[in-house]
Amino acid sequence: MPRQDSRHRKAANGHNRMTYTIARYPVHLIDFVSAAKGRRVTIRPMLPQDFKLQREFFRSLSGGARYGRFLTSFNDLPDAIAERLGKIDYSRHLALLAEVFEGNSETMVGEARYVIDEHDPATCEFAIAVADDWQGCGIGRALLAKLEREAAASGIRRIRADTLYDNKAMRRLATRNGYAVKANRDDARLVKLEKQLSAWVPTNVPPLAA
Ligand SMILES: CC(C)(COP(=O)(O)OP(=O)(O)OC[C@H]1O[C@@H](n2cnc3c(N)ncnc32)[C@H](O)[C@@H]1OP(=O)(O)O)[C@@H](O)C(=O)NCCC(=O)NCCS
Repeated sequence: MPRQDSRHRKAANGHNRMTYTIARYPVHLIDFVSAAKGRRVTIRPMLPQDFKLQREFFRSLSGGARYGRFLTSFNDLPDAIAERLGKIDYSRHLALLAEVFEGNSETMVGEARYVIDEHDPATCEFAIAVADDWQGCGIGRALLAKLEREAAASGIRRIRADTLYDNKAMRRLATRNGYAVKANRDDARLVKLEKQLSAWVPTNVPPLAA
């Protein structure tokens, strides 16, 4: 089980500073994809110290995109949510970010994550968002595919999310990738997206001889 441990330490100047210990950073999830704009996009597992990038990313989203992602309105990421998003252990909670580099600047342009259902470890809940200027370039598809593959490899058999009934982009992304779209009886604003995952077998490894 990966271990993530954060604690306050005194820095040389006497100020508290946060340090992290992550037993296993899943480097196999680092990838580079070509987005439609001809730009190279890096996908990698999020680190606790990415909180600043993440906050800037959520600030940069339009009100509509933010509402689509969180199903509620807010101008800035509330601290309680930011803290929850930062509690990543790459096992029960996996978060991937997509980013671009320009000169010395690093800009987050997308994120996707899943959290395993605490009552049913074979099921996870996912969420995804791509920066408005980068939507329609294939980043959402790339993030979701990677998330699903890792979920399947970890033994998760069902991935699901609630999304707004009129979220055309999310519904399209989901249906094109094999998700069933069902009514949400508890909330007519929403639909349920759900996909069964089968055990993932790496394609570059030949099957074992019988
Ligand atoms: C939903 C979202 C993540 C899709 O990401 P994206 O990077 O734009 O998606 P992609 O470029 O990979 O496109 C995936 C598919 O959706 C389609 N699509 C993208 N934007 C669309 C739009 N506005 N309307 C209709 N279809 C759209 C694409 O054409 C593509 O379909 P195709 O495979 O048939 O070509 C993005 O629109 C977003 O961040 N929305 C705001 C946050 C949100 O609503 N999140 C959902 C929370 S569960």
